[in-house]
Formats: sequence, C-alpha cells, structure tokens
Amino acid sequence: MTAEPLEIYLEEGDLERGLRDDVRAGLSAGSKWLPPKWFYDARGSELFEEITRLPEYYPTRAERAVLAAHAPDIAALTGAKTLIELGSGSSEKTRLLLDAFTRRGGLGTFVPLDVSVSALRGSTAQIAADYPRLRVRGIVGDFTRQLDRLPTGGRRLVVFLGGTIGNLLPAERGDFLTAMRAALEVGDWLLLGTDLVKDPSVIVPAYDDAAGVTAEFNRNVLHVINRELGADFDPAAFAHVAVWDPEHEWIEMRLRATRPMSVRVLGLTVDFAAGEDLRTEVSAKFRPEGIAAELATAGFAAAEFWTDPDALFGVTLARAR
Ligand code: SAH
Ligand code: TRP
Repeated sequence: MTAEPLEIYLEEGDLERGLRDDVRAGLSAGSKWLPPKWFYDARGSELFEEITRLPEYYPTRAERAVLAAHAPDIAALTGAKTLIELGSGSSEKTRLLLDAFTRRGGLGTFVPLDVSVSALRGSTAQIAADYPRLRVRGIVGDFTRQLDRLPTGGRRLVVFLGGTIGNLLPAERGDFLTAMRAALEVGDWLLLGTDLVKDPSVIVPAYDDAAGVTAEFNRNVLHVINRELGADFDPAAFAHVAVWDPEHEWIEMRLRATRPMSVRVLGLTVDFAAGEDLRTEVSAKFRPEGIAAELATAGFAAAEFWTDPDALFGVTLARAR
C-alpha cells in the first residue's frame, strides 16, 4: 500500500502560535528556558538521526538490541491490530517490531505521530513501500496535547521509544502517562523505552560528543527561532553545555552565551550576560522500580521489563488496567 496523506492534528498556524508562546514565556523567565519540541525542524530531525549513529550515543544501539531480542515476544504477547508510535522520527528501530508483527500476522495499521512533518513524510513513504500489507497513517501532532485523538480499531499497542519520555519534566511526565492511559481501553498496551541511570562518565559524552553534532543540534533551536519568528540570535555565540544533575538524575542541555548579547524577538529585547545559560532540554534517566511505580500511578501494570546485555537502556511493556 502507498502511505496515505499525512493527517494533520497540528496546523502550521498552531505550531507557530505554540512556538511564539513558548519563546515569550521561556525567554522572559528569570532562568531562561525553551521546551524541546522546537529542535525538530527538517535540519533538526536530520541532526538527531546523525546523533543516533555517534559512537558516544549508546541509547539507540542499546534500545535496538532489546527490540531485536524481544520483538517476537512483543508481537505474541500483545497481539496488536494497531501499532501507534509517538515521537516516531525515522521509525528506524520500529521496523524490528513491524517485522515481528508481519511474521506473526494480524497487525493491520501503523500510525506514526510526530511534530516533525519532514521526518514523517520520509518515514511513512518508506514504511508503506517496505510493508505493502500495512495501512500507514502518519499523524502530525503533539503527544503532550493530542492523545485524546488517537485512532481506535482493535487492540492497540502504543510505542514510545528513544527515551523521549525523559525529555518531559516529572510533572509533565505524570500528566502525559495519565492522558495516555485515558486514551486507551483496558487491555491495550504501552511499550516504553527509557534510558537507565548509570555512571555519568557514560551519559555525559552521549550528550556532548567529540564531533560536535549534539552541539549543532542544540544550537539548531536558535536557527528555528530566527527563521520562524524573525529573531536575531547569533547561534555561533552560544556554547553547548551538558550537565549531569545527580539530584534529579537527568542530564540538562544548555546554551551558554559566550559574550553579553541583546536579542530581538517578538518585539522583546532579551538580554544575555556573558556566561548566562538558556536551558533547552532535560533527558531524565530512570530506575526500573521508578518506571513501574510511575506506570502504576497512571493506571498501567508493567508486564515485562527488558534491558540490553550491558543494562544501559530499559524497555517496559505495560498494560492498561
Ligand atoms: N523515536 C525515535 C526519535 C526520537 S527523537 C527514536 O527513538 O530514535 C524525538 C522525536 O519526538 C522527534 O522525532 C521529535 O520530532 C518528536 N517530538 C518531540 N516532541 C514532540 C511532541 N511534543 N509531540 C510529538 N512529537 C514530538
Ligand atoms: N530523546 C533523546 C534523548 O533524550 C533526545 C536527545 C538526544 C537530545 N540528544 C540530545 C535532546 C541532545 C537535546 C539535545 O536522548
């Protein structure tokens, strides 16, 4: 089957309004911040794919190893008819699941959802071509806002990979899991990929690679704001900083002004002191007992928990109860 045209839950105008609200709120705050979803324009999505191939960035390889080992179990345990993927990006690892479901039979529809139109366009076309019996319905949407509109139709498996849940702050994460549960029926499944707590000497390089790809990715958000909102950030004047926060067990990405600057955006003048940080992203790391507890609070029962041989990354299969 060819991919159907993308379904749009988020119009161009919604996106721009969202960006404007976030930029206004984040850049006028005492400690400046920006939410992570604005990294992913076409260039940002490409840079992220490059990150997944870096020697330092272990999460993608570790998660792929788990899926390679357990995709047949996931297909057999869930018997899903519809597979929905949140923050699907290139859906590259998801192919391991699609392969297992194809061998088993019974999966009818694959629904990747992402804010990045460019990532979705590429992935839906390729997956539709490679899995001719699957109906592929790509959705442009925001998984923090539009879970109530997920497609129905037979037993569903929602997959949320890449440790992207760790990019939400704890309160947002609770809201997300609660909304996720509300969107599902009893007996539907959630497959959740989470990066695990480990020595910071392994984590930090994954977010501050030698080739500088992550730095470019981080600065890309400033290019997005310049282009979309006509701001005059000088991205080259911001240094990429990745700091491990042992209290919250997350790594925090920042852009640090290397000199004093005044940036014009949305009629505001935003002053940066030399050395001042703009927080762009957290990536939380998890402990198995914490994941199970958060899922239970939201109304899921964890059924399986798998890791790669080095226990770097965890994948939980949970059921709505
Ligand atoms: N699942 C892929 C990609 C992870 S990168 C993997 O595991 O490699 C995170 C993805 O989530 C990107 O494709 C980004 O565009 C998307 N994303 C980030 N915030 C989002 C949001 N609020 N709603 C929908 N998609 C989002
Ligand atoms: N979900 C990815 C993660 O937390 C996203 C990511 C990887 C990322 N590297 C990044 C986000 C660098 C911002 C900056 O691992």
